[in-house]
Order: sequence, then C-alpha cells, then structure tokens
Amino acid sequence: MRLEGKVAIVTGAASGFGEGIARRFANEGASVVLADIADEAGETLANNIRDDGAKARYVHADVSANDQVAAMVACAVSEFGGLDILVNNAGMPQRNQPALDVDEETFDAIFSVNCKSIYLGTIHGVPAMRERGGGVILNTASSAAIRPRPGLVWYNGSKGAVLTLTKAMAIEFAADQIRVNALCPVAGDTPMLAEFLGGEVTNQAYAKFVETVPLGRLSTPRDLANAALFLCSDEAEFLTGVALEVDGGRCI
Ligand SMILES: NC(=O)c1ccc[n+]([C@@H]2O[C@H](COP(=O)([O-])OP(=O)(O)OC[C@H]3O[C@@H](n4cnc5c(N)ncnc54)[C@H](O)[C@@H]3O)[C@@H](O)[C@H]2O)c1
Repeated sequence: MRLEGKVAIVTGAASGFGEGIARRFANEGASVVLADIADEAGETLANNIRDDGAKARYVHADVSANDQVAAMVACAVSEFGGLDILVNNAGMPQRNQPALDVDEETFDAIFSVNCKSIYLGTIHGVPAMRERGGGVILNTASSAAIRPRPGLVWYNGSKGAVLTLTKAMAIEFAADQIRVNALCPVAGDTPMLAEFLGGEVTNQAYAKFVETVPLGRLSTPRDLANAALFLCSDEAEFLTGVALEVDGGRCI
C-alpha cells in the first residue's frame, strides 16, 4: 500500500482521469475525498470505492467557488483527520475553434476552473497540510501547455499558467515540506475529448490525433493514475516543481 494512512482530495473525481486517480489512491490505502459538481456520478463512485473496502467520501465542490473549496478541505479534515494530498484535476476544455470565436464568458470560465481553482485549493489546502508537517499538491496541466497547437489558444494558455503556478508554488512551499508537481497528459478518451476535436469524436479525427503520438494511442485514466500515484507517494519525496509528460512521446 503506497498511500497507507494518507488523506487525499481529488477534484474532478467523478469522471475520466480524476476517477482513475481516485480509485487508484483508494486501492493504495488513502482515504479519498472525491470532489466534483457531477453529484450522481461522484456519489456512485464513492459508494463503489467503499464497497471495495476502501475509504471515500463524495463532496459537491465547484472548484472555482471559494466557499465550496473551503468546505471541501474542511470535509477532509472532519471526515478523515487532515489533508496530505490535493490533486487539482478538475478542468474545463475549450471547443476546438478559432481563438476569436471564443466569447468572454467562456474565457472567464476556463480560467476560473483551470487556474483560480489552484489558488483556492492552495489558500484552503496549505494550512491543513502545514498542520501535518507537509504534503503534496498535484496539478493536472496538459501537453497543450508545452506544445500548444491551433484551435485551443485560451485553453492552452490556462494550462501554461498551471505549469508556472506549479513551479512557483514548489519554491514557495518547499520550506513547508509541501511538494508541488504537475501532470501533462496528451489527449485522452474521456468525455472531454469531443470538445478538443471540435465537438464530435469522429473515427477520422481520432485516428489523425493518434498519428501524432509516437507510442500510437491516446492516454488513459490508468496512465494518469500510475503517474499521479508515483508523484504523490513517498517514492517521489525529492521531486518538486516537476511537469511530468504522460503523452506517449507527443511533446518530443
Ligand atoms: N481528456 C483529455 O484529452 C485531456 C488532455 C490533457 C489534459 N486534460 C485535463 O485533465 C483533467 C481531467 O479531464 P478529463 O479528461 O478526465 O475530463 P472529464 O470530462 O472526464 O472529467 C472532468 C471532471 O471535472 C468535473 N468538473 C468540471 N468543472 C468542474 C468544477 N467547476 N468544479 C468541480 N468539478 C468540475 C466534471 O464534472 C468531470 O467530472 C482536466 O484538467 C483536463 O483539462 C484532459
């Protein structure tokens, strides 16, 4: 058990990468708070994890809302006694389209969910980690932050901010023994994929994207869960400020 005795929060845990990470963390001994706005799926997952004999609790938390993020952290403390790991994974895509077609409301929403969420998770989560003498924050960025392509300008920029925040936070909180790292997934076959491919996953668009990945497939929740488990475990105790590409070689 690589996370025995740890308390973790995973945001965006009701689907895709977050679901994979939450399940894996629970299987490795962590008590997991699953945070999302998709309440039915989140509750179902929490029940499944508990049925498997692990510890999980679902909490409704819009990661861009200050009071809801505060309540999410408070839930970890009240239910499981503290906070060791925060995975800021919830994200909002941009539909693949010309940059000038994205309206202001969508731009604001992308930056609120992808970036402000990290500010809120930090101001509420770090005090709880200081109480434990340290912790780990893992931010889900994207290969789009490292190798941006056309059609996703504002999303690319939000994930670029996630990388700079990760490195800045790693320096800021090193003295607290809080490590801060990021995952950079290539496109994965989750509900979000359709937006990245322009609104629909056609066989042609899917195959065209796969051709750009040297290892010849898209990423999976299992790929992200494996990487997250390593970075959040004590095996990575000397790694901070890392942006780990989980991308089958796409960013080379
Ligand atoms: N799927 C991809 O191709 C891909 C590639 C690179 C990076 N990412 C990033 O990975 C992360 C997870 O994406 P995914 O592919 O698993 O998508 P997904 O759509 O399967 O899951 C995203 C989850 O986040 C939740 N969510 C959305 N807005 C929220 C909010 N305001 N507060 C709380 N929860 C919210 C959704 O309800 C959903 O359960 C995101 O940050 C995304 O930007 C995805």
